[in-house]
Amino acid sequence: MKAAKRHAELCAILEEANYRYYVLDDPTLSDIEYDEYLRELEAIEAEHPKLVTPDSPTQRVGAEPLPHLDTYTRKTPMLSMANVTNPAEFQEWVEGLRNFLGMEETDEIRFFCEPKIDGTGLEVIYRDGRFVTGATRGDGTTGEDVTAQTKTIHSVPMKLRGKVPKGELSVRGEVFIAKADFEAFNKQSVDRVFANPRNLAAGSLRMLDPRTTAERPLDFYAHSAAHEFPSQEAFYASCRDWGLRTSPLAQPCETAADVEALYDTLVAQRDEIPYEIDGMVVKVDSFALQQRLGQRSRSPRWAIAWKFPPVQRTTKLLSIDVQVGRTGALTPVARLEPVPIAGVTVSNATLHNLDEIERLGVRPGDRVLVERAGDVIPKIVKVTKSGGGKAWEPPTHCPVCGTEAERDEGEVVSRCPNVACPAQLEGHLRHYAARGAMDIEGLGAKLITQLVEKEMVRDLADLYALTAEQLSELERMGEKSATNLVAALAASRTRPLPRFLNGLGIRHVGERSSEILAQRFGTLDAIVAATEEELLDVDEIGPEVAESLRGFFSRPQNLEVLRRLEQAGLDPQPVEAVEGGKLDGEVVVLTGTLSGMTRDEAKARLQALGASVGSSVTKKTTMLVAGEKAGSKLKKAKELEIRILDEDALLELLG
Ligand code: IVH
Repeated sequence: MKAAKRHAELCAILEEANYRYYVLDDPTLSDIEYDEYLRELEAIEAEHPKLVTPDSPTQRVGAEPLPHLDTYTRKTPMLSMANVTNPAEFQEWVEGLRNFLGMEETDEIRFFCEPKIDGTGLEVIYRDGRFVTGATRGDGTTGEDVTAQTKTIHSVPMKLRGKVPKGELSVRGEVFIAKADFEAFNKQSVDRVFANPRNLAAGSLRMLDPRTTAERPLDFYAHSAAHEFPSQEAFYASCRDWGLRTSPLAQPCETAADVEALYDTLVAQRDEIPYEIDGMVVKVDSFALQQRLGQRSRSPRWAIAWKFPPVQRTTKLLSIDVQVGRTGALTPVARLEPVPIAGVTVSNATLHNLDEIERLGVRPGDRVLVERAGDVIPKIVKVTKSGGGKAWEPPTHCPVCGTEAERDEGEVVSRCPNVACPAQLEGHLRHYAARGAMDIEGLGAKLITQLVEKEMVRDLADLYALTAEQLSELERMGEKSATNLVAALAASRTRPLPRFLNGLGIRHVGERSSEILAQRFGTLDAIVAATEEELLDVDEIGPEVAESLRGFFSRPQNLEVLRRLEQAGLDPQPVEAVEGGKLDGEVVVLTGTLSGMTRDEAKARLQALGASVGSSVTKKTTMLVAGEKAGSKLKKAKELEIRILDEDALLELLG
């Protein structure tokens, strides 16, 4: 058949082009040519759907959204690494290796080193050279199945090249985003600003809609395998033959002294390296030695991460602004003259609270030393040179609505007491839309700012009156994203009650207490009607939470919003109320994949019957629910002689 032949040809051309561009960084086709071939391929596949294979180049654009991420349990866990922070600790580690291996002090060990990338772990699995599965690291043993998302990462080959290994090959590596790509992405992002490339990479990889993942500039470097090779260096050579990228900075070091020299070089080069790194990984090169060295509980003896020092730079403190948080807390933020620190431009730093400013003795106009360590928000370490400015005065009024601020006895923050303060509204909306709450995709910070500024939204209920037409008139909002947002909002109407409760942003009422309350009372009305005594009667609900709830539900404005939400069709799904549930006292752990329900669902239903659901098997565990592909937890439960249920038994238990 002619179409099949052309299909195969086009696949080969596009795969080669992909490899040249994304893996070798040496393109041979122009973008226009690539697109032309891709369109031709798409046309053939549209006409002959049978020709679509899971690894066709057309699949890189991302498949249909998934309802949830499946868990993925592996036999050989993805380990973590011990850290050292200075030459003395590094030498001590080398000493330890020599002792363990019974070597003389003068014997050298060959190492293999490379930068430690500040990204997120990914395992890619090939069967007979074809990509079959991508999975996140998770807790090492159990991660999430991100196969559909992984397909959109162009530097992950769908077919291995050269002499392809028979059977299964598992390669582990790091997914990351280059610094320049990160800055560009944040600049054009309408609804969210990401704190750092790592968060963006990790979030993108776990997107339920793989088409979104496809739009993110993700890259992948391989760095370890679940199989035997003669050496780390040989493994990297194989990876490159197969078309998998490895760090171009990876290199052998014949002696410990060479490792120390390389460390200094990398620290000096750090700013020029196009992606964020937070240390250097040192591995014993020989796999035979690696095997002899083995592992401690969760990290191998044969590898360490030699961390880089946190990076500090001095800059000028331009001003101290006051931000209003979701709960009305007025927090000072340092505005800085922009300064690049470890690859990210820093222009704000946290000052935590009023006492911190006093402690540092910092005033606008001072030169300050700013530190950025990993993903934490940059902070001011100290004043390096006074600018002779005036001491900063704490706010007497809310900077947004002008209401007089209150500072409770013994508190380090002052607060805006006005619940209708627009700044709090923005914060409220952001919290409401966030993941652990109503999870409204597309309703991000920048959009919320516009909605509040244009007074299109004055409270939560207004969200549900927004139309695609109104939304598409907003800045940087296309017709498609407007329609999607309206759909996302509509879908949020039936979120489970605990999420809605959490989304209300009641002080001291977070994810956990929301869950407990929803379980105990069943419906929103019952919670609204509950007296303080009834609330206090619930296990784990203390006076702070009870008081805060009563306060919230006794304010007429809040009740009015709830009424309007109900009118807008909001219908949080109740969880079954427990009154002496039949699983009271049971500690259940879920593992493996369930076919009939998600784990979240199983968890919620178990909890509704009074069970508490743990994440790891311990002596306290009373039951293990083992789905498909259950791994180490099942083994451990058997060792501890814990009652084990399969999915059918679970269903029976849940009634
Ligand atoms: S090798 C022990 N090489 O760091 C397993 N890991 O702290 C061998 N990481 O979860 C890992 N860059 O995801 C290795 N060049 C690199 C790395 C790297 C980042 C991550 C990895 C692991 C974590 C361990």
